[in-house]
Order: sequence, then C-alpha cells, then structure tokens
Amino acid sequence: MTILITGGTVVGATGRTAADVLIDGERIVAVLEPGSTLLGHDLTASVDTVIDATGKYVIPGGIDAHTHMELPFGGTAAIDTFETGTIAAAWGGTTSIIDFAVQTAGQKVFDGLAAWHEKAAGNAAVDYGFHQIVGGVDADSLAALPKLIDEGITSYKLFMAYPGVFYSDDAQILRAMQVAADTGLMTMMHAENGPAIDVLVEQLLAQGKTDPYYHGVARAWQMEEEATHRAIMLANLTGAPLYVVHVSAKQAVEQLAAARDVGQNVFGETCPQYLYLSLEDQLGASSEEFGAFEGAKWVCSTPLRSKQEGHQHHMWRSLRTNDIQMVSTDHCPFCMKGQKELGLGDFSKIPNGIGSVEHRMDLMYQGVVTGEITLERWVELTSTTPARMFGLYGRKGVIAPGADADVVIYDPNGHTSIGMPVDAEGRPTGKKHHMNMDHAAWEGFEIDGKVDTVISRGSIVIRDDAFHGRAGHGQYLRRGLSQYLG
Ligand code: URP
Ligand code: ZN
Ligand code: ZN
Repeated sequence: MTILITGGTVVGATGRTAADVLIDGERIVAVLEPGSTLLGHDLTASVDTVIDATGKYVIPGGIDAHTHMELPFGGTAAIDTFETGTIAAAWGGTTSIIDFAVQTAGQKVFDGLAAWHEKAAGNAAVDYGFHQIVGGVDADSLAALPKLIDEGITSYKLFMAYPGVFYSDDAQILRAMQVAADTGLMTMMHAENGPAIDVLVEQLLAQGKTDPYYHGVARAWQMEEEATHRAIMLANLTGAPLYVVHVSAKQAVEQLAAARDVGQNVFGETCPQYLYLSLEDQLGASSEEFGAFEGAKWVCSTPLRSKQEGHQHHMWRSLRTNDIQMVSTDHCPFCMKGQKELGLGDFSKIPNGIGSVEHRMDLMYQGVVTGEITLERWVELTSTTPARMFGLYGRKGVIAPGADADVVIYDPNGHTSIGMPVDAEGRPTGKKHHMNMDHAAWEGFEIDGKVDTVISRGSIVIRDDAFHGRAGHGQYLRRGLSQYLG
C-alpha cells in the first residue's frame, strides 16, 4: 500500500515546512517538495491513496510513554484493556504507547513481564512497548534488571509511595540505581513520601475528612518535593539517569531544574491533568448522583494541585523552558460505578487514576492555541522527546525517510468537544470518547483543533470520523537505551 499526503504543513520538533509525504508499506520513504514528481512520474497517479492535507498539520504520531492498561490497583483493575485503550489512543492521534508491566514483591520480574505480554499480544490497535514496574526490589529482581534490556525494556519504575504495595525504601532504591548506573537503564520514579502520606491519611480520616478532596490534602506538595529531592540525590550518588513521572508540584520542578543546571541526567514528565485541573476544581465538584464524591473521578497520584498556589501556571512555563521535557497521560482509568465507589466514605480507598489517553494530543494542542507552547514544542513534548527518551527515535517521533509511517494529520480549523454531552433532561446523548470509563474526566473541554487522519505503520486507522484499524495491528516495540542523555 502506498499513500501520498499532499498539501500539508509537516511539523517537527525543530520546524515546519510545506511538504508532501510518501509512504510505502509500513515506512515513510520520502518527504518531498509540494507537487513533486518522481523520475518524471506524477506521484498522485502512481500511489494507492492520496490524502489531501491542505490547511492541515502533518505530524509524527503521538507517543504516550505512561499508560496502565488493566493495572491492578486497590482491589480492582484499570478498566481499559490493550484493545480498548489503544483504539482510544488511535482516535486521539497517539500511535504508540509505553505501558507498565508489573512485578510485585515475591514475584519473578520475568513472570510479571510475561503476564503483560499476554495481555497485549494480538490485542493492541497501535504499537506498544513496556517499562517494568519493580514492586519488590530484592536480589532476584536486581539480577533480572539488566536482562530486561535484551527484551527491549530499557526503563523500570520504582515507587517511593504506596507502602505495602509497590513501595521501595531508600536502601532498595540505592541498590536498583547502582544496577541502572552500570547498565544504562532509565530509573523512573514515583516521587512521593509514602510513609509520611499514610500518617496524614490516617489523621484526616480520624477527623471525619473522608471526601476525595482530602486525597490531595494528604499528598501535600512537600511530600512530592522531598521525595523528588531524595531521588535526585540517590541518582547523583550512583550516576543513574532519573526520570520522575507525573510531576505536579512547582517545588518538584525546581528540584529537577536545579539538578539539570549542574548537569545531572534528570528528567521530568507532567500530564494534562496537572496543567488544566486543580484541587479547587476537585473541592467544587458535585453531582446529584455522587454529591462531593464526584471529585473521585480526579483522584490520582501525584494529586491535583492548588491553582491558588500557582502550580499549573508554573507547569506550563516549565514546558517552555524545558525544565519538564515530556507530557504523558498516566492513563489509568476507573469507572465511578463499582470502582471509584470503593472509596465512598474513605478517600484512601478510591482507586488512583484518570483516563486521558484519547485526549492528550488535543489537550496539548489547545496549549498551542492559547499561546502556552509553540506548534513545534507540541510535537516535541508529545512525540519526539518521548521517542528519544525511551530509545525509539528514528523509528518513531519524526517524519523522515526510513521512519515508521506513524502520521497524524491535524486540522487546526476543526473542533473537538470532549466529554459526554447531556440532553435537555440531563440524559447522556451518547458516548463521545472511546475509553472504557463510564464518565469523562475531561467533560466540557473544548479544543480548537481536531485529529483528522491517523496512520499507524502505513495503515489508515482513523479517517472521516471512523475507526478503520483492528486489534492486533499493533506490534511490540523493542526499545533501545535512552537517546536523550547529556
Ligand atoms: O494515580 C495514578 N497515578 N495511578 C496510576 C499508578 C501510578 O502511580 O502511576
Ligand atoms: Zn506513579
Ligand atoms: Zn502511572
């Protein structure tokens, strides 16, 4: 199958240019001057499909480097499967995800990994790779870490939060980072002081403060700043590269910036919820069905932060200054009914996570519209840097000959209404998103742009507001070591 995309503006991390893009099979084979012929042949007559992208942007497919399909959490599991989650990703212009395989204490790392391959194989609609969660750092898991590289897994995640679940203490972190420094593995860190948070949780609950809002009160910014600093110091000592996930506090950004200023290989990721949503939004949330428990739809960790304290504003700025390098979703969706509801009367039992895999490209494009970031930075934050950070660059993250034909045509004159609109009687008029959740965490968000066409490895998966892909098209991505290290 050959495809020629004509008339569009090709946008990359370093610039934009009017160009046609020629795809042959699964690869991009040429980026040409508009209207080019090849050896005298009119290209439009020689290819199987011509897509007119006049007035639209042609960008490398989005890479969401932080998703949790089917993650077991708090007695339930994230509700998107690899099939539903990657179809939703495709709708939103994301053509690769990197999900987290899970090892828990006492389990063999390679058994945890095998379980994740089983969940994904034959089910994904777009390409997928894995990071490895190491929930039990011991001699066995430490010995397994270097072997992950041969499996195409070059990053692993530790948790300074969630004591008794995924938590690692400082001694475990130090040992894992020593292995990472020797091998080039990227340490991904959930940086919150879990034991101290658990004390605050207990005290708040004892005072009868049980609503979702108190989740954010317990997980105060000091808990994030302190853990971020500690992770940076342990990385500094060992020489291990460090990537801090889901950064939400401006004080944590300052810790990362200070470490980067002295040349440490330290990186940070934020998520759309920390740019757009706030603790005040959560406090004000209410519905007829759930009352103040409505705020549970935004319970995630790290938590939403106070707008009054200026975290969101600072986070946008850090995207411009490269103090934060990437935007992922931390897609971890739970339904209100039967899942978030587990925390009725006790916020600490609400499964943590928000579903956004479908909306990241749109939500970040809105930052271009409002002048927070440039068009080029949009592509860099959502595709090019994720590819470089996690060893996929060249194949992914760029429109260039030889790269996988993962291409999104984005219409700046289109419009996207996110959410589940209701009719005059307040009844939902139909499902507007394709994720498995029974609610929309981004209800009411309006985007001045629209995903027009999505191509995954040379196959058109979204066109004319319809899904043309299939579960099983997505292939496992073996990743190399990070290409972002200084
Ligand atoms: O709330 C979140 N972030 N849920 C997913 C698990 C994690 O810590 O990333
Ligand atoms: Zn986390
Ligand atoms: Zn996560």
